[in-house]
Amino acid sequence: MPFIDSPVRIPVSGASLGLALLTLAGCDGQQSALAPAGTGAQSIATLFWWMAGGALAIWLVVMGIALYATQARPEAHSLRGARWLIIGGGIVFPVIVLTGLLIYGLMLMPQLSLSEKVALRVEVSGEQWWWRVRYRTEAGEAVELANEIRLPVGERVAFSLTSPDVIHSFWIPSLGGKVDMIPGRTNQLILEPTQTGTFRGACAEYCGTAHALMNFAVVVMPREAFDQWLAEQAEPAQQPAGELQQAGQQAFLANGCGACHQVRGTEADGAVGPDLTHVGSRLTLAAGTLPADVEAFKRWIGHSSAIKPDVKMPAFGMLPEAQLTAMAHYLKGLE
Ligand code: CUA
Repeated sequence: MPFIDSPVRIPVSGASLGLALLTLAGCDGQQSALAPAGTGAQSIATLFWWMAGGALAIWLVVMGIALYATQARPEAHSLRGARWLIIGGGIVFPVIVLTGLLIYGLMLMPQLSLSEKVALRVEVSGEQWWWRVRYRTEAGEAVELANEIRLPVGERVAFSLTSPDVIHSFWIPSLGGKVDMIPGRTNQLILEPTQTGTFRGACAEYCGTAHALMNFAVVVMPREAFDQWLAEQAEPAQQPAGELQQAGQQAFLANGCGACHQVRGTEADGAVGPDLTHVGSRLTLAAGTLPADVEAFKRWIGHSSAIKPDVKMPAFGMLPEAQLTAMAHYLKGLE
């Protein structure tokens, strides 16, 4: 039977090598645990490479033995050699490698959750399907925004994570590990960004239809710029500039948007949906689903449920085109 007699071949084709390199190229960028920009992510990435190295070592030994078995002549072998192979390769070697990795991983854990020297607290609640973000000013006043988190570089931040209804998982791969957001509980996550830049956060646990459409932008900036940004976020909303934005504000209030959304400084004081006081300054719209331009605002108001299935905000496509345009200009103007 030639099928059994044929020699073992290990396929190392150019195509598979290319595919592996292509996959690795995806490990870069603003949402990669392998391109760390925070102390937690750095520890996790180091642990990952050690684990990958350990797995590679075990794989090489196992494949070496398998290869040897296919080449060995079918005759009686020494019992001592066989025992050594089974006990050494099957028990001693994996136990040493796995115990080393376990100890190393356990040693990292206290360091990742150290809550000393926290410079900032941010409360984040996972909603269906967006992120409610709350900062506190020095006076203790709450500043609420949505789907965007800004952090000062080089400082430890404590996140208080919860959810009103379903379980989500809060994850900024470039900065650190992920933590579940569980209804009725507040979990804590400590992160310390080490590089300025814009990163991407995501929900890392299936939570419902629009699970893949709840992302957020994370901007790490120097302390001064951060303080200025937070002070701006604490301000009430800008007054509409010009007739178009004024008409947009009127349409916004007349169509009941204020029942769900807050725009501080106006009569819109809803708490169900995202706070829109400074929505025009955000980097994305609809929790990382759309760019934050006037056209996207218009599309979102008119077709929310087509863009994000199961979204709680009804689509307002029945409104006249001119009203949708005006509302989009008003919201984009809320910087
Ligand atoms: Cu929220 Cu998945």
